[in-house]
Amino acid sequence: MGNRDCRRIAVIGATGQVGWALSRELKRLGHEVLAVSRGRTASNLSRLDDLEALGVRTVFQADLTDVNGLTALLDGCDTAVVALRANARLIRELEPPILEAARRAQVRRFVPDEFGTHTKAIEYGVGTLFDAKKDIQELVFASGLEWTLLFPGGIFDYFLPNLRLFERITTFGNLQCPFPTHSIDDIGAICARAVADPRTANKAVQIYANVVTQQYLVDMLVRMWPHYPFTFEHVSTEKILYLKEHGDPERISAKGGAEPDRERHGINYATYVLGRLACLDDPDTLCANDLYPDHVYTTPEEALADPKFVFGEPCPS
Ligand SMILES: NC(=O)c1ccc[n+]([C@@H]2O[C@H](COP(=O)([O-])OP(=O)(O)OC[C@H]3O[C@@H](n4cnc5c(N)ncnc54)[C@H](OP(=O)(O)O)[C@@H]3O)[C@@H](O)[C@H]2O)c1
Repeated sequence: MGNRDCRRIAVIGATGQVGWALSRELKRLGHEVLAVSRGRTASNLSRLDDLEALGVRTVFQADLTDVNGLTALLDGCDTAVVALRANARLIRELEPPILEAARRAQVRRFVPDEFGTHTKAIEYGVGTLFDAKKDIQELVFASGLEWTLLFPGGIFDYFLPNLRLFERITTFGNLQCPFPTHSIDDIGAICARAVADPRTANKAVQIYANVVTQQYLVDMLVRMWPHYPFTFEHVSTEKILYLKEHGDPERISAKGGAEPDRERHGINYATYVLGRLACLDDPDTLCANDLYPDHVYTTPEEALADPKFVFGEPCPS
């Protein structure tokens, strides 16, 4: 990449699942990356060390609501990407001050904390997390800053059947709803290209390479591991409808993910009942397949053939 295309990009939440994949890829593409973390802790230490070894500058801001502190950190950045742990409360509490700091620091492009369901295309009321993200979108659109919304479909870990993040093979709602799912490395690679792409200014980007259904995935899993005695659990559409309204708003009972139960079932509702995890029918949405046709994605077949992905260990007993 020539210097002309090199941007100074702050990633707030760079030690996280999405932020980590994105930051490494931005650095590989030749951008100057500023990794913003709340502080060095036992859980993010090795990722911070790895980022520093790659030449990423790490900076620390313990209080992400401190607009003055954040403004100073973001000074000189072209782009600010938020990839923080998300639940409705954190989004509403942390993202407005981060946006205000970006505005004061005269950051050109703001990339809010999305990275999941296409919240711009769905209506209000689908889920509490989505409503919080939609409210932030309104603030971003009104801010005068350039924006990009990144919608990667489902991350493999949560959307392919596996026994690492689920007690048993768990399916939800309509087994025939199509949805896209991608590896975190592919998501990092496409998002890194999209955040610095002039074509994606004031656009949403939908990643849409591996489009599958739960039935297709379960059949594939059983075909690949014919001797393993999988047990199955199905969460019905009726139960999802009930839990998205009445599930515990605070308790996080799932093994993987950071959303409380009620929010999680909002996600299940959007994906496995409405079939709206991904949307290409929004007029502001570009498809990553058109933007980056050369990218070769890891397939669900490749992930499900890997015993470490399915069982968390090299060889199932
Ligand atoms: N498409 C999908 O399948 C999918 C799956 C999961 C998540 N998502 C979405 O992706 C986005 C990023 O999520 P993620 O899973 O990458 O996040 P994450 O890994 O849970 O957290 C990212 C970073 O946020 C910081 N953080 C953690 N707890 C925090 C807190 N209470 N307050 C403030 N900061 C905190 C941590 O950085 P420091 O400790 O270094 O500050 C952490 O490394 C979210 O919007 C989420 O909804 C999508």
